[in-house]
Amino acid sequence: MFGSVVAVSDVSLTIAAASFFTLLGPSGSGKTTTLMMVAGFVHPTRGQIAIDGVDVTALPPQKRDLGMVFQSYAVFPHLTVFENVAFPLQVRKIPGGELRRRVGEALELVRLTGYERRLPRQLSGGEQQRVALARALVFQPRVLLMDEPLGALDKKLRAHMQGELKRIQRHLHVTVIYVTHDQEEALTMSDRVAVMRGGRTEQVGTPAELYEAPVSPFVADFVGESNFIEGVVVAASGPGRTLVRTDGGLELWGIASQPLRAGQRVVAAVRPEKLEPTNTPAAGPNCCKGVIEDVVYAGDATRYSVGLGAAGTLTVKVQNRAASRRLSSGESLEVAWDPEDTRIFARAGDDG
Ligand SMILES: Nc1ncnc2c1ncn2[C@@H]1O[C@H](COP(=O)(O)OP(=O)(O)O)[C@@H](O)[C@H]1O
Ligand SMILES: [Mg+2]
Repeated sequence: MFGSVVAVSDVSLTIAAASFFTLLGPSGSGKTTTLMMVAGFVHPTRGQIAIDGVDVTALPPQKRDLGMVFQSYAVFPHLTVFENVAFPLQVRKIPGGELRRRVGEALELVRLTGYERRLPRQLSGGEQQRVALARALVFQPRVLLMDEPLGALDKKLRAHMQGELKRIQRHLHVTVIYVTHDQEEALTMSDRVAVMRGGRTEQVGTPAELYEAPVSPFVADFVGESNFIEGVVVAASGPGRTLVRTDGGLELWGIASQPLRAGQRVVAAVRPEKLEPTNTPAAGPNCCKGVIEDVVYAGDATRYSVGLGAAGTLTVKVQNRAASRRLSSGESLEVAWDPEDTRIFARAGDDG
C-alpha cells in the first residue's frame, strides 16, 4: 500500500527456478509494485516472499541476491563500460584478477567485448542496455528482475534483444521475472505469464493457455485480439460446450470454463484469424452472412471488417497467399468458425 492506495492485492505466484516468468498488464495494473516487492524496495503490508524456499520478506534488497535491469538504462554515465560492469563486484570486494575475469565473461555474454573503455554516451541505446544487463548478471544472481527493459528501443532492435535475453537466460539457467505491457513480447519470451489487472492477477499460464483459453474477456482482449459477440445461453450447461443465441439472432457453440444457466447473459470471444471466409452458404451455428465494410492490407495478412447487420461487425484476418483472392469492400461473404475456437464468458455482474 502507498498511503491509502492499494497498488497490489492477493497476488500469489510460484515461479519455477530457471524459468522465464512475465508480469503482463496495462499501465497501473501493479506490475512494477509487484516486482519491487520481490526486489525488496517496496514492503508488502501482508504476505510473504520466498526465494529458493527461504523467506526473504524482511531482507533488504542487497541481501536478496537479485540482479535488476530497468527501462531507463541506469548505467553510471561517468564510468566506462568496464567500470560499470565491475561495480557490483567491487561492492562485494571481489579481488582484481577474479574481477577482471568475471567482467570479461559478462561482456562476452552480452557481446560487448572490446567496448571496455567506452563511456555510456559513446554507446547506442541497445548497447547501454547490454551494459546494464552485464552489470546485473556479473555477480551471478539467482534471480534477474527486469522492468520494461526494452521499452526504449525501436521495434527491430527490441526483437533482436528479446532473442538475446532468451539466449542468455537459457545459457545461465537464471530465473527471470520480467515486466512488460507488450503482450507480443510476453508471449514470445515467457515460459509462463501472469496477466495483471487492477493490482490482481487475472490469469496465470503458459502463452498458449492465455491465448487459446483465456479465462475472462479482459484476457481475451489484452492478450492478442478478440471479436466479442453478446447473447444468452440457450440451455444450461456445465463447463464445456455451450449453445448461445446472440442478440443479432445467430446461434453459436463455444467453450465455457464455468457452468452457465439457461437465459444467462454471456459474451462469446473469437479471434480474427479463427474466422474463415467460405463459399458454403451459411446454415446452422457458427457461421453467418456478411458484407465487407472495410479492407486493411497489413503485409502478412489482410483484415476485413465484416458487417452482419443487426448482429454487429466482425474482424476477420486472412493470411496473404498468392492463391488467396483479396476481397473488396461491398462484397458479400459467408464466415464460419470452429466451436473450439469460441470462448463463452458470463457477463460481469451476471455470473450466476
Ligand atoms: N509511490 C506510489 N504512491 C502512490 N501510488 C502508487 C505509487 N506507486 C504506484 N502507485 C499506484 O499503484 C498502482 C500500480 O502501479 P504500478 O505497480 O507502477 O503499475 P504498473 O507497473 O503495472 O504500471 C497504480 O495505481 C499507481 O498509481
Ligand atoms: Mg511499471
